[in-house]
Amino acid sequence: MKLAENKATLSFSNGSPSVDLPVYQGTVGPDVIDIRKLYGQTGMFTYDPGFLSTASCQSSITYIDGDKGELLYRGYPIEQLATQCDYLDTCYLLLNGELPKQQERQDFHKLVINHTMVNEQMQFFLRGFRRDAHPMAVLTGLVGALSAFYHDSTDINNPEHRKIAAIRLIAKMPTLVAMAYKYGVGQPYMYPQNDLSYAGNFLRMMFGTPCEEYKVNPVLERALDRIFILHADHEQNASTSTVRLCGSSGTNPFAAIAAGVACLWGPAHGGANEACLNMLEDIQRQGGIAKVGQFMEQVKDKNSGVKLMGFGHRVYKNYDPRATLMQETCNEVLSELGLENDPLFKLAKEVEKIALEDDYFVQRKLYPNVDFYSGIVQRAIGIPVNLFTGVFTLARTVGWIAQLNEMISDPEYKIGRPRQLFAGSATRNVTPVGDR
Ligand code: CMC
Repeated sequence: MKLAENKATLSFSNGSPSVDLPVYQGTVGPDVIDIRKLYGQTGMFTYDPGFLSTASCQSSITYIDGDKGELLYRGYPIEQLATQCDYLDTCYLLLNGELPKQQERQDFHKLVINHTMVNEQMQFFLRGFRRDAHPMAVLTGLVGALSAFYHDSTDINNPEHRKIAAIRLIAKMPTLVAMAYKYGVGQPYMYPQNDLSYAGNFLRMMFGTPCEEYKVNPVLERALDRIFILHADHEQNASTSTVRLCGSSGTNPFAAIAAGVACLWGPAHGGANEACLNMLEDIQRQGGIAKVGQFMEQVKDKNSGVKLMGFGHRVYKNYDPRATLMQETCNEVLSELGLENDPLFKLAKEVEKIALEDDYFVQRKLYPNVDFYSGIVQRAIGIPVNLFTGVFTLARTVGWIAQLNEMISDPEYKIGRPRQLFAGSATRNVTPVGDR
């Protein structure tokens, strides 16, 4: 860490001695005040629920400038990666810090492809779930269960184990997501076919059947690959922080990633694409475009508890750069499938237009996020709404594992243990039940 020239001084109005705190500079982005010794020096903690002003770690993987609407993976703008690289190149970059050279690329693709199959026993584990279980419930279980199948890559302190676990997770996740889907619809599982691309293979495992040959549509394959790239990592968001915190206890990588899957499920995070599509379908049922105005009034009414899903972001207070790229893909996919006049897509356009012009959203800098469009794309491809977050999970796995491995390799890493401002009862005595 590079020390900044200035330091911070914390003074107190009650005359307690002030304390100097070191300030560190990142490559870009805000400086940070180092408060690690604050408790030792003052007997006080800091208070920051929701981590609004707290850097929880040092990282070199992903950088977001929310005001500029910029997203960088290892320094490369997301726009360049989304148009010039594929998802597995992006995985290599996130894991290793550099884009692969020709031979490295071939070797990495081969390595991932060699691990796409899951232990046959997995399907019997899957059978324990109800057919109508939510795919995220199923995935949380399946990913956690991987640690029971792959004992030889569970030692988080062994760099070789961490490497193999990373490849296994990236390679097997599409197989697991597709198995969760096939189980729900009662169709036979499709084994991976390793001469297809990562995205093409996923499409075939999802929509192919053993009865006929499945032809991968290159437009849909590219769209899915882009969804994967755009969702691959996103700095210290809720699920990534969950993976780091969970992994900080020294638990195995599969268990830590399963914790991330559970966190991502929530509608304020990865569940937003599903919630967004459900919201659009609700408006459609209530009368479609004619009812958008009325729905917006509900969104603006704080007492209604209704949010415009797919809008707003904790970090992007300008535009989500992923949304621009996803919008482009959305147009491509809808045109390829002849769905330009699809009523739900038209409704989404109307919602977006009204929100972008409305003072409520303008003043709060609320813009469409990636999930506003990714749900529409996935629906057009034929992915059921309740599997949208599963697709996000598949894509984000590499980010989680890269962040987890970065943390474990950091000599400064410690088990995560936040403090609290206690507001409950101080010590008191139990009185006999008859006297209460
Ligand atoms: N609809 C209506 N009002 C909103 C929305 C929304 N989608 N998002 C924020 N606001 C309002 C919020 O009520 C608050 O108003 P006020 O200042 O009057 O109290 C103001 O905007 C600031 O919002 P905030 O809740 O302080 O913002 P946050 O940074 O805590 O929350 C968020 C960010 C993503 C949780 C929130 O915008 C939200 O719930 N959006 C909808 C869910 C969604 O689309 N999530 C996907 C995020 S992108 C995928 C990912 O990276 O995980």
